[in-house]
Amino acid sequence: MADLDLSTIKTIDDLDVEGKRVLVRADLNVPIENGEVADDTRIKRVLPTISKLKQGGAKVILMSHLGRPKGERSPETSLRPVAARVEALLNGGPVRFFDDCVGPEVENGLKALGNGDVAVLENLRYHQGETANDIGFAKQLAALGDIYVDDAFSSAHRAHASVEAIAHLMPAYAGKLMMAEINALTKALADPKRPVMAIVGGAKVSTKIDVLKNLATCMDVLVVGGGMANTLLNAQGVNVGNSLYEPDFVDTVKEVLASAERAGCEIFLPVDEVVAKELAPGTEWDVCDVNTIPSDMMVLDQGPKSIERLKARLGEMSTLLWNGPLGAFEVAPFGKGTLALAEEAGHLSQEGKLISIAGGGDTVRALNMVGATPSFTYVSTAGGAFLEWLAGRQLPAVVALSTSQIEPAQTAVA
Ligand code: 3PG
Ligand code: MG
Repeated sequence: MADLDLSTIKTIDDLDVEGKRVLVRADLNVPIENGEVADDTRIKRVLPTISKLKQGGAKVILMSHLGRPKGERSPETSLRPVAARVEALLNGGPVRFFDDCVGPEVENGLKALGNGDVAVLENLRYHQGETANDIGFAKQLAALGDIYVDDAFSSAHRAHASVEAIAHLMPAYAGKLMMAEINALTKALADPKRPVMAIVGGAKVSTKIDVLKNLATCMDVLVVGGGMANTLLNAQGVNVGNSLYEPDFVDTVKEVLASAERAGCEIFLPVDEVVAKELAPGTEWDVCDVNTIPSDMMVLDQGPKSIERLKARLGEMSTLLWNGPLGAFEVAPFGKGTLALAEEAGHLSQEGKLISIAGGGDTVRALNMVGATPSFTYVSTAGGAFLEWLAGRQLPAVVALSTSQIEPAQTAVA
C-alpha cells in the first residue's frame, strides 16, 4: 500500500446522518445451512456500524453479495435468512427485506423507512452488473441512498460495482469494521512493533507466493508451515518423501529465500515432522527428523521439536501476523502444531506480550477450536482480501474509498 494515502479515507465518526438514506455495503456472505445462517460472525462484526448509523437517525440500507450465483436466483443464495438474523441481533424494530437490490419497486419501498430503520436488499450478484463493475448498475444502486458506507473489507479485493464504481458516484465513507481491518493490517505490516513474525501456512506455496515475496522484505521472521513448507525444504535440498510439494515452484521459492536473506528476514522452517502414509483419521503416524522423511510417508504436521522451537521464538516477538495452518489441522492428530501455536499466541496476547493479528478461514477455525479468538489482538473477517493485503497489493475498494471525491450535500435529503 506504499503509494496509497489511507489518511484520505473518510470515516463515519463525526458524520451527520440524521434523516439520510445511508447505503451500507457489508459482507454478509455467511454460510447458510437448511435455510438458516450457520455462522453469524460476519453479521456481528458489522453491527457497530449499523448501530451507530441507527442511533444517528439514518435510514440504514444494507447490501451484500452471498455466494457466487452469477446472475441466477436461488433460495441458497438469498439474503432473506440474513435479514432475519440481522433483525434478531439488532433487537430493536423490524428489519425490512427487499427481494431485489435495484429498481423502482425497491426505490419506492425504501421511502417507507423512517429514521433509525434498517433494510436489507437482496443479493447484489443476482445482477451481472455487480461483478462486472458496471457503472450503470452502480448508478442504480447509488440512486437508493444519499451516503455510501463501505464496511466490507473482506470484499475489498474485488473491483465490483458495490465496492468500486459506486464509491465514485456518492459521498463515500469507511465503516467501523473497514477502518478496524485497515488499521490492524497497517499496524502489523507497515509500522509493526518489532520484532515482527509472520506465519504463513496452508497446502500450496503457489497460492501464496506473492505473500511470501512481500513478507520476506518486511518481516523479521517468516515462518512457513503446512504443505507449503515442503517446497521450501525441498529448495534447500531436503527430500520430502511422499509429501505434497510443488516442484515447479522450487526456483521461485529459491528467489524468495535469497530476497529474505538480502532483507535480513529469518526464514523459519520445521526441523522435525509428523508423518503418515495417508491423511485419514486414526491412521498410524510417526515423528521424524526433517532430513530422514521416509520415501513412502507424507508430512502432515510439524513435529514436537519444531513446535517448541517456534513457541520459544514467538516468545521473543512483539507482533505476530498469521495466515494458514501448520499442518492438516482438521484431522486428528495432525492439528497439534497449529492448535498449540494458537494457544501459545493467545496466552502471550492475553498477557500483553504480543500484538497478534490473524486472518483467513482456516486460521480463524483453528483459533476457535482452542478458544483463542477473544485473546487475539485482532482477528480479520477477511480471507482473500487479507492475503492480497499481505502480498502488498492495493485493494480496489480501499483505493476507491481513498480517492473518492464526492462531497456530501449540505442539506439532508428526507
Ligand atoms: C469471501 O467470503 O471471501 C468474500 O465474501 C468474497 O467472496 P468472493 O470470493 O465470492 O468474492
Ligand atoms: Mg473468497
